[in-house]
Parts: sequence; C-alpha cells; structure tokens
Amino acid sequence: MAEDIRFEMIDVDLDVQELLLTASQHDLAKLRQLTRSNNVGAENPVNIKDPETGYTPLHAAIAACERDNDDEDGSATNGVKSNEGTEQEEENTLAAARDTVKFLLQEGAIWNDLDNKNETPGCLARRLGLTELYELMVDAGVRAEMLLNYMEGYEELEDDDEDDDEDEDEKEEGEEETKETSDEPSTQEPPTTEEDTTTAAAAAEPDVSNSRYLQSNLTFQNDRLLDDDQNGVMMAWETDIMAKTARKLLPQEGLRVLNIGHGMGIIDGFFQGQKPVAHHIVEAHAEVVAEMKSKGWHEKPGVVIHEGRWQDILPTLVGEGVMFEAIYYDTFAESYAAFREFLSEQVIGLLEPSGLWGFFNGMGADRQISYDVYQKVVEMDVFEAGFDIEWEDIAVPKLDGEWSGVRRPYWVVDNYRLPVCKYMD
Ligand SMILES: C[S@@+](CC[C@H](N)C(=O)[O-])C[C@H]1O[C@@H](n2cnc3c(N)ncnc32)[C@H](O)[C@@H]1O
Repeated sequence: MAEDIRFEMIDVDLDVQELLLTASQHDLAKLRQLTRSNNVGAENPVNIKDPETGYTPLHAAIAACERDNDDEDGSATNGVKSNEGTEQEEENTLAAARDTVKFLLQEGAIWNDLDNKNETPGCLARRLGLTELYELMVDAGVRAEMLLNYMEGYEELEDDDEDDDEDEDEKEEGEEETKETSDEPSTQEPPTTEEDTTTAAAAAEPDVSNSRYLQSNLTFQNDRLLDDDQNGVMMAWETDIMAKTARKLLPQEGLRVLNIGHGMGIIDGFFQGQKPVAHHIVEAHAEVVAEMKSKGWHEKPGVVIHEGRWQDILPTLVGEGVMFEAIYYDTFAESYAAFREFLSEQVIGLLEPSGLWGFFNGMGADRQISYDVYQKVVEMDVFEAGFDIEWEDIAVPKLDGEWSGVRRPYWVVDNYRLPVCKYMD
C-alpha cells in the first residue's frame, strides 16, 4: 500500500475516533463543526462506526450516560456516572445527552443501526435504564417507519399509474415475480445485521413472502405448525393470548365473527365456545383447509370456510353486505403494508357499528424497541382509519425450550400487548 494512502487512512481513523469522542462528551458545538467539515469520508458523518465496538455517534452519546454501579461504600446505586455523583450533575449529563441525541437524529443518524453486541442505540438506552433517551429513540423509529410506509404507499401509487394500460392479471403476476426473486436466497436466512440496519422496517417485516409460504408444504404437530423452512407459522404457546383475545372480541354468545387465518384453529376453537350464529373463516393455504376439513370444521355450527386469500375474499363479502360483530386478523408472512390495507380498506365494510376487531400483535416482537415503535405506528394508522385502540398487557412466559426445531424465535419481548379496536365515538 502506498505510504500516503496509509497515512490518509490513519487520519480518517483518527477523525472517526474524534467524532465518536465528541459525541460521547456531548460537546454540541464541536460536533456540529466536525459533522459540517466531514473529514471522515462518509456519506453522512453522523453514521460512521467504530470498527471495534460498532458504536455510532448515537451509541457513544448514550453509552456515556452509563450508570455507576458502585457507590463509594461499594453498594449499588442508580445514579448516572459523574465525577462527583451529585444529582445535579446527573441531570446535566442527561440533558446534554438528550440534546446530542436530538442533534444527531436531526442530522440524519440511523435510529436502528446495530453495534457489535447487536444493540441499537435505543436498546443500549433501555439496558442502561435511560428512559428519556429510550423514548427519544422510539419516537425517531416511529418517524422513520411512518415515512418509509408512506413512501412505499406513494411508490405503489406511481406503479399503478405506470401500469394503467396493462392487463390486471399481468400486473399481478409481475408483482408476485418481484417478491419471489427478492426472496431468493437472502430472505431464507435469518435477518442479518446488515439487513436490520439498511431496512428500517426489517424487524417488523416477515423474512418469507406470502406467496412463497402459500406454496410451501406444512408440518402439523401437536404444539406447532411449521412451513417448509421450519418457520413457526403458529405455536401452542400462543394459546393464552388467543383465549384472552377471543373473550374480548366475542364477549357473549350468539354473535357473528370473522376470523382471518385458521392456523392451528386455536382461536377458532375459542370462538366456537361462544356459540356464534355465524363463524366465517378465511384461510389461504390449501393444506390448512384440508386439515380443517379432516377435523370437521366445515360441519361445525355457524361455520363458513372461505378458501383463498383475504385480499380476494373480503371484497366479495363486502359486496354481499355480510357484517360481523367481531373480526380477528392473524395471517402469516404478510407485510405491514398488507395489514395496513386490511385495516384501512376492509374492516369498515365488514364491522357492525358496535363491533370490535383485533389482530395478532407480533410486529417487531423480536426486539423490544421495534415492538414499541410498531405499537405507535399501528396506533397512528388505526386512528387514521377511524378506530380507537385499547391495549392490555399479558405476560409471556419464558419460551427458551419452545424454539427447538424452529428456524428463528419470532418472539423475545416480555409482554404481549393485546389490541382491541372499535369505531371512534
Ligand atoms: C398464525 S396462523 C393463524 C393462527 C390462528 N390464530 C390460531 O389461533 O391458530 C396464520 C394463518 O393465516 C393463513 N394465511 C396466510 N396468509 C393468508 C392470507 N393472505 N389470507 C388468508 N389466510 C392467510 C395461514 O395459512 C395460516 O393458517
């Protein structure tokens, strides 16, 4: 390597370290100057990374508030680390960190970049008990995700305009093909650090497409339903969640219920317990439908099975004027955009004015901050569609033993937040 290139690299490395140090010192004036002069050769200097720790300036600013575990007498303390350890200093450190975090976010820092310990800046804030900084990171995540979702919506609109002249069937084929090719082979692997950092919505998005899943062979076991790639489509540990959801959505006997996604039939079993006068089930996977029939679901009281994707079935039901007091949505391998379409386009045509609807709230459940971000994103979309939402926390037991033979644990957070939605007053 030529001598001057080596020196140049050392210089860049020193500049990176200086930027990270400045962020950790919460020195806003210097940080502003360093980011403007951009000597680190990065597209955006606020997104540089320490090669050893993987820390970004956001990580550095937050890590600098790490609480000191030892008092002078050696006992544990909750104080923020500061030379004298006074409360005032703790507050000053936190206030300076807050301003630094806000500045970095305004400058375009990525909210969910991962360090070498697989932590986003928000994960770090949460682990260190820095609630205010954690909330700042959650809000940054919400803004990024909302923007991404809207941009996807606009892209779809643009695509629609371009395709106006095309035959509708051709267009749908094209869409499926794109999804399928983008699936292979990267989405068969668990999401990597790279995917998480470059795709803001990665944590909430399925890593298998719906069309691929619907063609896959399924394995039905007592406690789980798996697809070809050993993805857990449904698992028995969710039974308590399904029982509580069914009780909330269908509080009395003799009502009409629509369930989208039969899976292992757990929630449908609880719905049947409420003796509904009409119990419609939409199920898209041919093997699940065959399994349902082998268990006699088509002969149960009030049951009507609709074979196909909800995207194709629901518009017909709306057209027929079929209405329900309760609707539940729990599908598999569908994107957030699909769910948003369901809640903003379909529910209103199917739900009685006094009705309730809900969904399996598993978006982003493999990381607490993603779960918190998506709770807020969903809240906003549900609100925009004209509904109120109420949440109830349900403790999820430790699931350590559950994942053997399953490709990827899709649940790590401690509490399930059970949503119940109704029309706004
Ligand atoms: C997670 S499971 C549902 C579990 C169910 N709540 C239970 O209690 O057992 C998801 C189900 O949705 C079905 N599904 C996936 N995509 C669908 C779609 N677009 N339309 C209808 N059903 C779909 C899957 O085949 C699967 O049976």
